[in-house]
Amino acid sequence: MELFTTVAEMVAARDRAHRPLGLFPTMGSLHDGHLAVVDQALGDNATVVVSIFVNPAQFGPSEDFDAYPRDLERDLGLLKDRGVHMVFAPPVEEMYPDGYSSYVDVQGIPDRLEGERRPGHFTGVATVVTKLFAILRPDRSYWGQKDGQQVAVVKRLNRDLNLGVDIVVVPTVRDPDGLAMSSRNVYLTDVERRAAPVLYRALSHVRDLWKQGQRDAEALRREVARMIGSEPLASLDYVSVADPDTLEELDVAAVLALVSVAAWFGKTRLIDNVLI
Ligand code: PAJ
Repeated sequence: MELFTTVAEMVAARDRAHRPLGLFPTMGSLHDGHLAVVDQALGDNATVVVSIFVNPAQFGPSEDFDAYPRDLERDLGLLKDRGVHMVFAPPVEEMYPDGYSSYVDVQGIPDRLEGERRPGHFTGVATVVTKLFAILRPDRSYWGQKDGQQVAVVKRLNRDLNLGVDIVVVPTVRDPDGLAMSSRNVYLTDVERRAAPVLYRALSHVRDLWKQGQRDAEALRREVARMIGSEPLASLDYVSVADPDTLEELDVAAVLALVSVAAWFGKTRLIDNVLI
């Protein structure tokens, strides 16, 4: 496995890499959810590049950029064991040197849900993804369904700017009790960790209601809110039943809908979603 920390070295390696090349962008602190995506990428591509970059542009001033968990040595060990070919882990100054002043704005999708609560977050994501696509010129890139709105933003960006990358979405990997794996789960106290599976229980319940014929989006939202409301350690931020591509709220969940939730457990904010 080769490690690159500068754009110039990464570009040179990309030029000599066997194709197809699959890119999996991450912020490190890798868990089994990330590794499941890595395995899929390894099955699909001759070269797999994992980027590890805690992207300051997507964190708000009061968010956890400094506290975000980082353990590059451990991450490199996990990726090497898996058989990843290349890792791109640049320092911040390499991606955003002095005088850096170009940002990519997707309109519309970021106005809601995560984007509404985290102003500028998706500008930061779209900017770093555009840069990674320019540096790696991947044939495919890999995304977790866990971040459903991020998937919608990246698909839109890729289409609107003709970036030509195949966007592959991988199902959310969960702990046995249903909690979606996340680098932020390490912030949870023991009692909060035991309470957190309520998110997936509520989402699964709503998926069952939908299968039984409930199409009224407001009724589905109310049910999620009721179940999460019954967990004293959870404080609901939002529940949404929306079009998975535009993130516009639906009145009727007829064909395909993205049901997503965000909730606080103490100081930790968790998100989850299911497609119905
Ligand atoms: P990060 O949170 O590290 O996630 C990297 C990728 O792993 C994302 O596509 C995310 O959806 C996926 N992922 C995380 N947990 C998962 C799980 N439990 N099951 C399946 N996939 C999972 O998302 C980011 O980083 C950043 O915004 C990034 C795209 C790297 C841009 O900075």
